[in-house]
Amino acid sequence: MPRYSDRMDRLGVEGAFLVLARAKALEAQGRRIYHMEIGQPDFDTPAHIKEAAKRALDEGYTGYTPSSGIPELREAIAESVSESRGVDVSPDQVVVFVGAKLAIFAALMATVNPGDEVIIPMPAYPAYESVVNFVGGAVKPVVLREEREFSPSGEEIVEAVTPKTRAIVINSPCNPTGGVYRREDLEAVVEVAREKDLWIFSDEIYEDIVFDGRRHESVLSIPGAEDRAVMISGFSKTFAMTGWRLGYAVAPRDMADKMMKIQLNTTSCPVSFVQKAAVAALKGPRDEVNAMVREYQERRDLIHREINSIPGFSMIKPKATFYAWPNVKRLGVGSKELARRILEEAGVAVLPGTDFGEPGEGYLRFSFATSKEVIRGAMEAIRGWVSENFPGA
Ligand SMILES: Cc1ncc(COP(=O)(O)O)c(C=O)c1O
Repeated sequence: MPRYSDRMDRLGVEGAFLVLARAKALEAQGRRIYHMEIGQPDFDTPAHIKEAAKRALDEGYTGYTPSSGIPELREAIAESVSESRGVDVSPDQVVVFVGAKLAIFAALMATVNPGDEVIIPMPAYPAYESVVNFVGGAVKPVVLREEREFSPSGEEIVEAVTPKTRAIVINSPCNPTGGVYRREDLEAVVEVAREKDLWIFSDEIYEDIVFDGRRHESVLSIPGAEDRAVMISGFSKTFAMTGWRLGYAVAPRDMADKMMKIQLNTTSCPVSFVQKAAVAALKGPRDEVNAMVREYQERRDLIHREINSIPGFSMIKPKATFYAWPNVKRLGVGSKELARRILEEAGVAVLPGTDFGEPGEGYLRFSFATSKEVIRGAMEAIRGWVSENFPGA
């Protein structure tokens, strides 16, 4: 067989998709499985967004678009980001991508040379580490600690910087912890980045799924971030549009240009009629988004109560996202083995914390982007399984 490139050995996979495949195999054998592995809203995309896509298709909006996205959408994003962050973002700083994931890829591709180091507070969304490795860089993890409610410590970030450090990747609200970074910790990140001349890649895709009346804190609002921060967000989570594949980056102009070139050489441009739908998403009514967030908050309260009533499990209340990240260290079983047994024996598909890097050992990740009925059923199944298998817990 012809050979593969060496870099293929450095590309990771997402655990959620592997667990989903195993869960489906068990279902095919007739097992009842509670799905809590995939981070995908269980809601449909709001109707006015779908209508805008249909209209665009009917109007023949079916050709290539400019590589950075259509001007109308870049303007709408610049306006929305300027307003929410209290800064002045211009449309030429915006690059629209086929999913936030591609924006992350473009940012790392554009800046990381082989041998460079990238600091990542961990546990973290697995794509960061995978892409850093793919481009020949090395990840320097900084552990997100439960005692700090999973906000990174500025001091630990400073300690992780070496002459080879090129960038810091941050993610608040955070997948998988459900935590949000404190403003002073964001300020520390900006300060270090300025002092050591580093890029900051800030994945803010869960910016709208925040609870208890909280306001999202963005790195873009921190003075001094403007010439080195790349903010990445998208439509997948806020508007329940995962399958539409649309994300974006807001970057200093020159960096926006570099990122655009990655897109030009991969997908050419984002999907034409999906961009029209995204304009409708940003400019249209927010009632359905608000209703989804209220529902996520109720589910968050439910799963928080339920998980803390399972012996051996303990969890701080997620402040945002639709992820629960319980500490299961008291059970004394490695996360991978525990998640495997919970799927095989209790019939609940969950992810081991280690799918988000080694610092995730001792935790599990549950997605509560699913009905309350599934959450209740899953928690009941796990409670029964724990009492049978860990009677002393
Ligand atoms: C932190 C984070 N960033 C990015 C993405 C990818 O988003 P998109 O669907 O826009 O590619 C996800 C999806 O799970 C995510 O959790």
